Amino acid sequence: MLPHDPAARAVAVTGADGMVGRALQTAAAARGVPLVCLSRADLDVTVAEQVRASFGDIRPDVVVHLAAYTAVDRAEDELDLAMAVNRDGAANVAAAAREVGARVVFVSTDYVFDGSASRPYRPDDPACPVNAYGRTKWLGEQAVRAADPRNAILRTSWVFAPWGKNFVRTIASRSLQDLELRVVGDQWGRPTSAQDLAVALLLLAEDPSRTGTMHFANAGVTTWYELAASAIALLRDAGREPRARLTEVTTPEYPTRARRPRYSVLDTTRFTEWTKITPRDWRRALADTIEALASEANA
Ligand SMILES: NC(=O)c1ccc[n+]([C@@H]2O[C@H](COP(=O)([O-])OP(=O)(O)OC[C@H]3O[C@@H](n4cnc5c(N)ncnc54)[C@H](OP(=O)(O)O)[C@@H]3O)[C@@H](O)[C@H]2O)c1
Repeated sequence: MLPHDPAARAVAVTGADGMVGRALQTAAAARGVPLVCLSRADLDVTVAEQVRASFGDIRPDVVVHLAAYTAVDRAEDELDLAMAVNRDGAANVAAAAREVGARVVFVSTDYVFDGSASRPYRPDDPACPVNAYGRTKWLGEQAVRAADPRNAILRTSWVFAPWGKNFVRTIASRSLQDLELRVVGDQWGRPTSAQDLAVALLLLAEDPSRTGTMHFANAGVTTWYELAASAIALLRDAGREPRARLTEVTTPEYPTRARRPRYSVLDTTRFTEWTKITPRDWRRALADTIEALASEANA
């Protein structure tokens, strides 16, 4: 955990040991932003009293709320637990933050949309989640919005990093085995580097005038199949020897417990208008992650 400097603008982070949390810690260190990192062991967001006591002690100016139940398929069967973390946890964090005068920056998901659109989703488009995880995150958003108009919500999609549990890392590791990888080619979205997302979150945390809902994802649109194929090609370029056979399948050919939106492409215009930053293409971001994974494996 990074030490907390009481004189500095305090940014507290929940779920700090998760995939995005780890990226945030690195990005904050690079920018010289002190963080108070709260892992699940430090703070269980489902326990309201614990959250109040923790924020009362830390007195943060901003809370970046990353703690979440993120097992999309399992959420269908563990709805109570997913609700406790994603809806009630967000409400607990937002209420405790308001008590100490802190803003909340909450990370949400493309899965709040039903995927029936034919153009990228804008922040104000109506939400209509098609799975339990999406519903819990949507309710969490509403709790954060209702608690304080200064709060901000950043939706993102298809996040990957060289660490943590994510699609790119799973494909990279499984592709080295002699097996068939069946991946759907009829769901479209925007892959997002956790490291790029972390920088966007810090910008939001640092600017109290930025409120409401925004989208951040890397540029370009792709399918899970194309993302897998690109990751494998990059691994090969990096000197690894993928042996798996990659097969494109349709959603009905690959049934999952939770339904996924067919098209959950996020429109990031509002983010770019505010920051003047255009997110880089997902292929470039993916290349960095595969390079990191390949050099780890070669070490
Ligand atoms: N990954 C994606 O593609 C994606 C896409 C859109 C939005 N998001 C959002 O981005 C945020 C960060 O996700 P991520 O990918 O970094 O997920 P992650 O790796 O699963 O991290 C979530 C963290 O929250 C912790 N946590 C779970 N229950 C908790 C509780 N009751 N109290 C405190 N901490 C708890 C987890 O701890 P344990 O490891 O001990 O369970 C984990 O460290 C989440 O809000 C997620 O909904 C992610």
